[in-house]
Amino acid sequence: MHEVADRIVTILKEEHDLIYPHHRIVYERFANGEMLAHVPETVRRQHVFFLHPMQHPNPSDALIAMLLANDALKRASVAGITLVLPYMTYSRQDRKHMARVPISARCMADLIQSNEAVEKIITADMHADQLQGFYDIPVDNLTSMKIFAKRLADKFGARLPDVVVVTPDLGGAVRARRFAKMLGKSGIAIYEKTRPEHNVAEILSYTGEEVYGKIAVLFDDIIDTGGTIRGVMHSLKERGAVDVYACATHGIFSGGAEVKFKAEGCKVFCTNSIPRDKAYREANASWLEKVPMESLLADSIFEASLVGGSVSKLSA
Ligand code: R5P
Repeated sequence: MHEVADRIVTILKEEHDLIYPHHRIVYERFANGEMLAHVPETVRRQHVFFLHPMQHPNPSDALIAMLLANDALKRASVAGITLVLPYMTYSRQDRKHMARVPISARCMADLIQSNEAVEKIITADMHADQLQGFYDIPVDNLTSMKIFAKRLADKFGARLPDVVVVTPDLGGAVRARRFAKMLGKSGIAIYEKTRPEHNVAEILSYTGEEVYGKIAVLFDDIIDTGGTIRGVMHSLKERGAVDVYACATHGIFSGGAEVKFKAEGCKVFCTNSIPRDKAYREANASWLEKVPMESLLADSIFEASLVGGSVSKLSA
């Protein structure tokens, strides 16, 4: 995330003439595994934009690290905190889908808001837009659609009319339609899936545009195990798509998903909402392309710093 933060600071300076210092929170571990967060420079009476990776090294450690750092910032007498969480973990568990389970996304909101110095959240492509309602503070839910649309337009050029946008599940239909519209298309293809158990996806049905002889572009918020996307990619090839690509904002790739994507020759675009180091990017360059989101984050920080700034125009 430091690379991302450095880039954001550079963009703010070069494109918006804003000079924001960049400090790194220092984390240490006690012998028993507990964490300590330390703010190395004074931040007294300043508004802090706190950029934090919520997936690394794992969602639970990342959550504790964020809570401790927020507390350290509050006790360092900041004027306020805007949390910049490009990927919001625990957001998929947003309702009671069976008896005696938590609504984890709500727990997250309560934990974050227990610190009154946190005034606002900037995040991207939350699993469901209505998650914003779990928060009493403002949430700017950016979308990466525009940056993906630009990348696809650059990549396909005159072949763009052959692209069909596909959503791998019903829940993503609204999002996929918006994305298709950005690419100048009126229709999409929709898969319906079910989950017979955690992390297993099964296709139930297909409706909408046909992909025979076309370039199919899947659009989803998250790739986790990759089961959903890989299953749908196979199905699209069987339906006669000449090429299949996937765009997803958040590339988690758990359970060795990289090996399967690579072996199957899939082509995937993901933002760096979950940052990866150079070695990871090089090892996976044959199937995974990073679509950087620093500009989007920098522009949203710039707008959030203005009186009357508008974030919605960044994603439109
Ligand atoms: C689910 O509704 C999400 O939009 C993604 O489709 C899902 O999280 C992907 O999970 P996986 O990659 O494990 O199939």
